[in-house]
Amino acid sequence: MIEIRNLQKSFNGKPVLRGVDLEIQKGESQIIIGRSGCGKSVLLKHIIGLVKPDAGQIFIDGDEVTSASTRDLYRLRRKFGMLFQGAALFDSMTVEENVALGVREHRMFDEAEINRRVAEKLELVGLPNTQPLKPSELSGGMKKRVGLARALMMDPEFVLYDEPTTGLDPITSDAINDLIIECNQKLGVTSIVVTHDMTSAYKVGNRFAMLHEGQVIFTGTTEEVRNTNHPVVRQFIEGRAEGPLQID
Ligand SMILES: Nc1ncnc2c1ncn2[C@@H]1O[C@H](COP(=O)(O)OP(=O)(O)OP(=O)(O)O)[C@@H](O)[C@H]1O
Ligand SMILES: [Mg+2]
Repeated sequence: MIEIRNLQKSFNGKPVLRGVDLEIQKGESQIIIGRSGCGKSVLLKHIIGLVKPDAGQIFIDGDEVTSASTRDLYRLRRKFGMLFQGAALFDSMTVEENVALGVREHRMFDEAEINRRVAEKLELVGLPNTQPLKPSELSGGMKKRVGLARALMMDPEFVLYDEPTTGLDPITSDAINDLIIECNQKLGVTSIVVTHDMTSAYKVGNRFAMLHEGQVIFTGTTEEVRNTNHPVVRQFIEGRAEGPLQID
């Protein structure tokens, strides 16, 4: 499980995370919602140790990420796959090179095993035999799927999805939703999904957390989030301009 305790982070004197507390249980599909700029991507980067907090702790199965040595961090990161916001593919590299990037660096597998895994993961995301293509030849949805294939290369226990459906048409979005559900249910991956797409959130999630003004102001099940009277959460999930959330 993942335990986040009193996580705090400022950038250039501006507080972004002001004491985030959240627990994510194994096997769940945890949705994190919140407005643009509220710190969702920053929170995900803390979970995989890409960003160090100013204060607070994160534990992965009891091991502290936030104080881990480089060597321990390396070991902890193997439990994670991350689908970055915008997929983060290198345009100059082929699909194969993009998908294999992390594992080649880790030097965990030989080339034959890397090739086998690349083929397996591309097949899983519905893009078999696309190894030689360049990202410029792919649609937005295909790029996200290549990003997901990369995230799955190490058979992670946890996959972090940062805005997996943003910018995609509703049908392509739904294909991504189905892949997230498949990873969660068939592969037993714990999902952490940052999104403002509520259609996707309701479909793939079973636990919800809302980040607002640097803190988690709401946690609950899908049923609880649908029925909540919390004014900030209601305004967000209904996508209304009127309410306590101000337009900036
Ligand atoms: N490396 C950094 N250096 C300085 N400021 C940063 C850095 N990373 C994030 N920030 C700031 O932290 C705040 C939160 O950023 P973050 O990317 O987490 O937002 P977000 O909730 O993911 O937004 P969106 O929904 O638009 O993706 C922003 O004000 C951003 O400018
Ligand atoms: Mg973000």
